[in-house]
Formats: sequence, C-alpha cells, structure tokens
Amino acid sequence: MDVKERIDELRRLLNQYNYDYYVLNNPQVSDFDFDALMRELQELEKAHPEFFDPNSPSQRVGSDISSAFQQIEHQYPMLSLGNTYSAGEVHEFYTRVERGLNSKFEVVAELKYDGTSISLIYENGSLVSAVTRGDGVRGDDVTANVRTIKSVPLQLHGDYPENVELRGEILMPWQVFDDLNREREAQEEQLFANPRNAASGTLKLQNSAEVAKRRLDCYVYSVLGEGLPYKTHFENLIHAREWGFKISDATRCCESFEEVMEYINYWDLERKNLPVATDGIVLKVNDLNQQFNLGFTAKSPRWAIAYKFKAEQALTRLESVSFQVGRTGAVTPVANLQAVQLSGTTVKRASLHNSDFIEKMDLHIDDMVYVEKGGEIIPKITGVDVEQRHKEAAKVLFIDHCPECGTLLVRNSDEAAFYCPNEDGCPPQIKGRIEHFVSRRAMNIDGLGSETVALLFDSKMISNVADLYDLKAPELVRLDRLQQKSARNIVQGVRDSLEVPFARVLFALGIRYVGETVAKKLAQAFGSIDAIKEANYDALISVDEIGDRIALSVIDYFSKAEHMAIIERLRDSGVQLEIGRAHV
Ligand code: IVH
Repeated sequence: MDVKERIDELRRLLNQYNYDYYVLNNPQVSDFDFDALMRELQELEKAHPEFFDPNSPSQRVGSDISSAFQQIEHQYPMLSLGNTYSAGEVHEFYTRVERGLNSKFEVVAELKYDGTSISLIYENGSLVSAVTRGDGVRGDDVTANVRTIKSVPLQLHGDYPENVELRGEILMPWQVFDDLNREREAQEEQLFANPRNAASGTLKLQNSAEVAKRRLDCYVYSVLGEGLPYKTHFENLIHAREWGFKISDATRCCESFEEVMEYINYWDLERKNLPVATDGIVLKVNDLNQQFNLGFTAKSPRWAIAYKFKAEQALTRLESVSFQVGRTGAVTPVANLQAVQLSGTTVKRASLHNSDFIEKMDLHIDDMVYVEKGGEIIPKITGVDVEQRHKEAAKVLFIDHCPECGTLLVRNSDEAAFYCPNEDGCPPQIKGRIEHFVSRRAMNIDGLGSETVALLFDSKMISNVADLYDLKAPELVRLDRLQQKSARNIVQGVRDSLEVPFARVLFALGIRYVGETVAKKLAQAFGSIDAIKEANYDALISVDEIGDRIALSVIDYFSKAEHMAIIERLRDSGVQLEIGRAHV
C-alpha cells in the first residue's frame, strides 16, 4: 500500500470511529487504538504535506492561528419560527394547515434544541462551510471552529446528494457547561448564564484549538437543496443520519393532533433527563410538496411552528436582600426567599443581578415575587405581585458601604456593578486572590481548596500569597480541622509550586485583566517580573493583544508598595519570577 492509500485508509477509519463514538454512541475501538491511528495519520500527513486535506480527521484538533470571521450570504434565508405556548394555539396551527392544504397531512414532531443554529454546506460530500444564522440573510463563517465538533461529519458517507445544506443546532452539553463554569469561576472569569450562551460564545472564539476542548455537539434538523432524494422531511432526516449526521432519536412522525399533544406532554417531563438543553417542540408538515404549497409569511414558514415549554414558576415571599462581595470586589445582591418548590428543587435564593435590576423591579421587602428557573441555573425573579404589597413596605435599597469591610463602594461609569475598592483589606477579596493563586491553572497547589484557604486565613496563618511559603507542617497540624497527612500535602504542594513557570506565576498573581493568555504574552515579551515592572505604557501596549485597559491595570498593580513587598517575599522563597529557569 502506498502512502496516499494508507492516509486515505486512516482518514476513513478515524472518521468511521468518530461517527460510531460521537453520533451512534457506540464506540468500536479503544481510546488507545484510536490515538495510535490518529498519531500514525498525523505523522504521515506531516511527512507528506502534499496530501493535506482540511477535512482530514486530524484537523479536528484545531489550530492556534487567529482569524477574523468572514461573512457569508445564506443560499436560503435562515428564518425563525412562530411560537405557541398552549395546546389551544397548537390546535389553531393544525386547523390553519388543514384549511390551507385541504388534504391529509402528517406532522413531524422534534425537540427544539436550545443552542445556536448553524448552516452546514457540503459539496461532493465534503464540508465546505459552516455559517451562523447572523441576521438571517448572512452570517459568520465559523468553519474552522465547526470542524472541531466531532458529531459534524467532515466527509459524508453512503448515498449523499452532490450538493446539500444541513441546518442544525450546536449545543454545549450540560456536563461540559458545568465543568466550564466551574473552571471559569476558579479563574474569576465571568460565568456563562446558560449552555446556549456558552455554545454561541464558543463558536465565536478565535482559537479553534480552544473550541475543540469545549466538546460541543450538533443535532441536525433540516436538509435543504435542489432535487433532494426524498419527498418528505422525515425521510431526508433518516437518510442524513446515514450520511453521518446526528439526528435526534426523539424525532417522530405524527398522524393526528392528539398524537402531537402526547408527544409534547411526554417530552415536557422527559427532557429533564436529556444531556442537552431544550426549550420546546418544533412541529413541521412532513411532505415537502405540502410545505411548498403552504409557503412562508415574511418571517417564518406556514408549515412549521414552535411550541415553547413553560418555564416553571412559583410565587413566594421576598424576606430580605443580602449583598455578597466577590473575589474582584464586585457586590452582588441576592434575594432571600421563603423556601418554595420549583422544578424539583427547593428554592431559597434568587439572583438580583445589580442595583438597576432592583430599581426596575421596584422591589420592596415582603413582596410576593414570581421566581422562574428557565434555561438559567440560578433562579430569577421575573415579576412582583404588587396587589399583595403592604402600604408600609420598605423599598429595597442598594447598600453604599461594603458589608464585609465597611469601605465606601464605587461604581465605574460604564458598568452596572458596584465595587468595594479595598482590595488589600477586604476579607473575601483577599481569600479569593489566594484561592486563585493556588488554583490548578495557576500555582496548582494540591491540598488547598477554598475551605482550607478560609480556615488558614481565619486563623491568621495566612493573609497573603507570600505567607503560603512560610507554612510549616507542625503548625498546620495544630489547627483543629487539619490532619497530619493533609498538612504534609499542603507543605509539599507549596514546595512543588516553586517549579511552576513564570507565565503561570504571573497569571497566579491575579492582576486584573491579566488572564492566562495575556500572562503568557507578557512573560514572553519581557522575560521577567522586573522587566514588566519597569515597562512603561508604550512598551506594554506594543505587545500583541495588550491594549489600554490591560496596560493601565499592570502599571497600577506594580505601582503599589504592598504588591512589591509580596513579590519580593515570593522571590526570596524561590518562586519563578523569570522565564527559563524551570521546564514548561
Ligand atoms: S426548524 C424555518 N427545528 O429554533 C425554520 N429549529 O426559530 C427552521 N431550533 O434558532 C428551524 N431545534 O436554530 C427547527 N428541531 C428544530 C430546532 C430548531 C432548535 C432553533 C433554530 C432557530 C429556532 C427557530
């Protein structure tokens, strides 16, 4: 077998195994064997660049090259669907279709996946472009990112049409969403409110290698093109599954309104057990000729409709409002509610976002408020039953001093949040900075979770990150709640962190706006903490990706004597403050 034949064979095998794993959920080889084949393919491709193919399964790992998105016009506009919220409205849709067609018809019922829509264009079976909905007429070309999604076939198999467009929904599974948010929390990054925002945010990343890590999924719900092989929507979907796409197992062909309602009622409950978010059901006339005869209104097809599941709601009493100070000093108001059952969990608290939200809702203590748990993880207040308000009820006022340290709060003109500016004296901010310092992607100090950090801080054994390096096992054991083994682990973890390379140390310091990528760029550009400290504004902004906001924050950080004192102590303890002293 010559090299090209082996490359083709490996690509075919890996595509097949990916499909078995990601679409059919039925793996045929071990991860070990899969990786071995992938490595063989990558090596052959590297040695023979003349056989490069952007659709090779090896390309799914993504690339580090950033690129701005181009806009591509859709061949068929991407319309939206009319919404219904009740059985009555679904019935009206049925009668409208009946009247329009004057003949028997079937309806395909599908889950309405709550992600972000995508148009996938295939020519001769190869994926040539993947475009977001955009404004419906044109969207962003996100092909490089979509290529990393394992359930999107790069090369179709079976009896596929020469030119075909598939539309579907890109989703971030709940599990991936939860992991991602946990990681973002540890790094003080803003959390995604729901998997939909996380999926669309991920698709717009400039770095496809990062997209590949986020493990997005894709369900296809429509097949478009000239001269499609089948005359019904359902048959086209079934065949799309054979070409390599993931089609929901929940898709059903219904013969009557009653059957549709059974479907809706079943999935309204059962959807809670799915690995991805759904927000309703989509109903589509099955026969493509009948679809054509019904046509479109200006905004949506007459042959389809969405039924939106009702977000579960409860009415309960607002007992009080507390104010929490986060790691960055941002103050968030939280509603304390009289406990109430909602979607199977007891709700006692709800997010109040910021002072503007409290103002807009005109909240008063003891108000009866509606809480909802929609696609969001934290329940939210969606309304107030003003009728039930007492005459003397006190308006909820935002605080003006930090509840933790008493400092006067400040508000930046372009932000909704209030901040406590006492960075170095406000306990939750100090604890938060230490937690960030020890976290996995920063100094990765084993044995130090947030509880232990709080214990050490509250017992005054640490009050900043430099104190960590002075901890001794015997002193730690004297703390009631620490066992000998965990004390030794902490001391060992701290010692191991002396090997952490400079870029991560810089990230660990928690300089505002200096995330992992920025820290790497600064470390590479300047080589040491001393050089960064000496760098002026112009030198800082001349570095790739460093703008005004980051440069000012870096200058501000190094201008503080307290910060410099900590850095000197870290230096004395042996922490890496320049590049190249440790392995990366
Ligand atoms: S059909 C012409 N089917 O819901 C109508 N859409 O407004 C084409 N969606 O953002 C859409 N699951 O991305 C259709 N099974 C499904 C769907 C679905 C989710 C999304 C779609 C669009 C919105 C419809």
